[in-house]
Amino acid sequence: MQEKIQQLNDKIALALQGGGAERIAKQHKQGKLTARERIDLLLDPDSFQEIGMLVTHRCTDFGMESQQFLGDGVVTGFGTVNGRLVYVFSQDFTVFGGSLSETHAQKICKIMDLAMKNGAPVIGLNDSGGARIQEGVMSLGGYADIFWRNTLSSGVVPQISAVMGPCAGGAVYSPAITDFILMVENTSYMYVTGPNVVKTVTHETVTHDELGGANTHAAKSGVTHFACANEVACIETIKQLLSYMPQNCEETAPVYPYRPQDDELRPQLAGILPDNANQPYDMREVINGIVDENSFLEVHKDYAENIVVGFARIAGRSIGVVANQPAYLAGVLDINSSKKGARFVRFCDAFNVPLLTLVDVPGFLPGTDQEWNGIITNGAKLLYAFCEATVPKVTVIVRKAYGGAYDVMNSKHIDADLNFAWPSAEIAVMGAKGAAEIIFRHEITAAQDPEAKLKEKEEEFTHTFANPYRAAERGFIDEVIHPQDTRRRLIQGFKMLENKVANLPRKKHGNIPL
Ligand code: HXC
Repeated sequence: MQEKIQQLNDKIALALQGGGAERIAKQHKQGKLTARERIDLLLDPDSFQEIGMLVTHRCTDFGMESQQFLGDGVVTGFGTVNGRLVYVFSQDFTVFGGSLSETHAQKICKIMDLAMKNGAPVIGLNDSGGARIQEGVMSLGGYADIFWRNTLSSGVVPQISAVMGPCAGGAVYSPAITDFILMVENTSYMYVTGPNVVKTVTHETVTHDELGGANTHAAKSGVTHFACANEVACIETIKQLLSYMPQNCEETAPVYPYRPQDDELRPQLAGILPDNANQPYDMREVINGIVDENSFLEVHKDYAENIVVGFARIAGRSIGVVANQPAYLAGVLDINSSKKGARFVRFCDAFNVPLLTLVDVPGFLPGTDQEWNGIITNGAKLLYAFCEATVPKVTVIVRKAYGGAYDVMNSKHIDADLNFAWPSAEIAVMGAKGAAEIIFRHEITAAQDPEAKLKEKEEEFTHTFANPYRAAERGFIDEVIHPQDTRRRLIQGFKMLENKVANLPRKKHGNIPL
């Protein structure tokens, strides 16, 4: 027996070496951790249970039969993060550059299947040169096996992808289907075709980082939700992110211990809005003033900054926040902000995270660029996402709620549960000046002093419509509340909605305007 145990120990020792000391040193020199070091950082101490440590590839072409590494370039298994079960795969760049072989793919599929059966998140730590070139179509098939599982798992268990090295070609589509992508600055990149192909086809000269680095995807394409300064920060963000979500679509997110603080009034909320309704302010101040201290985790921070989305807690309970941002493009809705908001709303709805919508929106962004690139279809995504969401939905109109954007931003009419407005709210078809110019045009042009007449009519319109009271009279606003009372109202509101049941009509699936 001792001999057999020794044989096992030798194999384990070999597997733990990955591609060997030299390749590990190269990985470290590049500022990257190894696959196992990443898992150690992510999971609770001693919680990792590996599956498939002894798997090897089956390729016999190109002399591959003589190059065998136990584990075949990916470490897979399960463990816990803050005591909660997660499944994890971590690609090992020291073995064939983390490239994906048939058996490498099978290992990933195995833990994805377990995650679906047992209802727990899947976390992928990606660091791979893509398809294992020596395996040809076997590798392509392996990718497709993963894509198919990513799709079936979508909305059933949370899926999080960290990109911690190369991720190129069709390989990008697995992270793309998952719920959240995190990238590490300077050491990771994602693209469908690399700089060389780009140069040949479009004659553009571009570096790996410019084309598909973390900051490019965080700010320009919106492909990644988080650009992290380094791998440790990336893994910390994954843990934080997990804390707001449930294990699967049948459960709710964990409730954090919360001790009620005094009367829950927040007087500072009354002092954030400028006196002039056309002046900007940072909506994050409103968010942070309402939610539990330091609980706001902003998602997609650098992309489409005219809308702010993220997770927070209110009295210990997880919520998703969607808020117009007057500090950027006056908080207008455009193509990118609509897509960003819609994707976040759909995640929250899929995983039973209640939604808080904070509104200060002057409308949709005009212009040929927006129209020709499909603001109609893309704006409809956000509308559709709010309409189909059945989680508790609470809205606070802070200032402007103009035109179609009023309807879209989780209005009463699309089945929001509680709609509040601050006394500063302006709910109208359009701003006072534009409205006065249209409906009083004849009166204004006939006046002796057209400018004075316009001003007078503008004031008349402001007095009549630029307030929350018309909407409150109709019940479209449930209550006009004092800003300082917002947090208390929301705590009570979300508590009241805790057991909400709402079902969509029976269907195979809806047809969101993609
Ligand atoms: C097999 C690979 C590999 C691959 C890298 N290696 N990529 N082995 N298949 N796809 C091996 C290298 O031979 C090397 O082996 C080791 O991994 C490290 O690679 P280096 O080139 O030394 O590393 P580095 O200089 O850091 O460059 C990393 C890299 C480069 C930029 C990723 O390796 C590269 O360009 N690889 C090929 C990428 C690619 O074209 N993949 C196919 C994409 S298409 P040794 O033994 O020396 O350590 C695709 C389609 C997917 O993926 C479609 C899905 C539907």
